[in-house]
Amino acid sequence: MAQQAEAQTVTAPDVLDRLDLGAGHCAVGGLQWGDEGKGKIVDLLAQRHDMIVRYNGGANAGHTVEVGDQRYALHLIPSGILYPDKTNVIGNGVVIDPAVLIKEIKGLRDRGVAVDKNLRISNRAHVVFPYHHVQDALFESALSAGRGDNKKIGTTGRGIGPCYADKALRSTAVRVGELLDDCHLGEKLRHIVPLKNVMLGSLAQEYGQTFEPFNVNTLYQQYREYAQALRPLVCDTSELIYQATQQGKRVLFEGANATLLDVDHGTYPYVTSSSCSSLGLHTGAGVPAQQVGSLLGVAKAYSTRVGGGPMPTELDDEIGQRIREVGREYGTTTGRPRRCGWLDLVAVRYSARLNGTTGIALMILDVLAGLDRLKVCVGYKHAGKKLDGFPAEAGVLAAVEPVYEEIAGFAQQIDECREYDELPAQARAYVELIERHTGVPVRIIGVGPRRDQIIVRS
Ligand code: GDP
Ligand code: IMO
Ligand code: MG
Repeated sequence: MAQQAEAQTVTAPDVLDRLDLGAGHCAVGGLQWGDEGKGKIVDLLAQRHDMIVRYNGGANAGHTVEVGDQRYALHLIPSGILYPDKTNVIGNGVVIDPAVLIKEIKGLRDRGVAVDKNLRISNRAHVVFPYHHVQDALFESALSAGRGDNKKIGTTGRGIGPCYADKALRSTAVRVGELLDDCHLGEKLRHIVPLKNVMLGSLAQEYGQTFEPFNVNTLYQQYREYAQALRPLVCDTSELIYQATQQGKRVLFEGANATLLDVDHGTYPYVTSSSCSSLGLHTGAGVPAQQVGSLLGVAKAYSTRVGGGPMPTELDDEIGQRIREVGREYGTTTGRPRRCGWLDLVAVRYSARLNGTTGIALMILDVLAGLDRLKVCVGYKHAGKKLDGFPAEAGVLAAVEPVYEEIAGFAQQIDECREYDELPAQARAYVELIERHTGVPVRIIGVGPRRDQIIVRS
């Protein structure tokens, strides 16, 4: 329990009291292409909440929480798990790979973090199976095979898209509640597995890959075991959140992935398959809209993206490389190098508008220290004309020319700053430029990966 105790005691100073979260619940979500530092913010704000709820995505997410010298990478478990007195909920909108979840629970327990009834899982969430992983990989192969132009989405390979597709298809989906019912599970798998074997077998043949057909019995036995392990944690989580709300408890919603990866509003088709913005929390957690009072948008001080798709401010040069190395910009889930670029305020403004963002948490500002000049994209031009808004077509976004505003950089390291006034004037100018272009106040500034490396503005 030693590390859990440390996780509890090493907290940010009482600066959180400055953050007026207003009435109602609070939502935290990413305003870019993911990896903005949501895990850190959720961990931080969890101190002021009773329940932390994940409402979308699956094991494609990688949320890092650093406390003291301990680094935790969370994939399915909400980032409030380090506090034993908080209830952490995996909502109905999440797709759960039980193998990953059970491993994650064990990994945390091995490090002294209590994971028991403080984790609850929705009986309406959907279950990821190994055939979803194979389908994910084969569909990616289909997008690149034999073509000069690689149209791969660049997924995390975690079976996310195929599982959400089955959810929409209904007849080939399994929900957590069904997993717990042996008869139902067996019946479902006897229907689904032959279909998957036919489809995946022919695809594999087409793309010259080996494919070992799935065996109904093996999968059934394996998933029955998973069901036994998870059974005590499963419940109707929408009801649980409702009861907590009735008792005056405060709920924090954790968005996984990010707004520009949202299946409806992101840079489609280079997106993930869930509703990642705050708009998705109502359906993904089963909570009505009026209960959420504050919406905190998490944005990195620059842009990153993993996988395919347009990214107007991408830097294929020394500055991009420098940001990647200083910012340790390698995927938390897949280890892939992240594409890096200047901050894109057209994109952030669009995301903030969609989410109804009431305050921005501007993360990882420390990584920009030492750059002579900082460029920020404040507009797009397409075919020589200024574009209004954020384009819906990936092809248009890929062709836009960013319009930059350039300001002086800051030379000093800022990782020891804890007050806004301690930041160099140029860093403050950068923050204020963001506020000017988005119309949203920057309430929190991240100056390092640890929980305590934060500035909260009154
Ligand atoms: P998430 O997916 O949004 O939770 O973000 P990730 O955990 O995938 O990636 C964010 C990375 O930045 C992690 O390695 C964090 O430890 C780190 N991080 C978070 N906030 C800060 C910050 O303010 N400064 C620095 N240098 N790193 C940060
Ligand atoms: P967190 O929560 C960064 C990206 C993948 C790929 C696309 C689709 O850590 O911010 P998928 O496997 O979901 O079908 O992949 O979405 N992607 C993420 N990128 N952070 C994430 O999560 C991501 N989740 C999905 O790289 O481009
Ligand atoms: Mg991440």
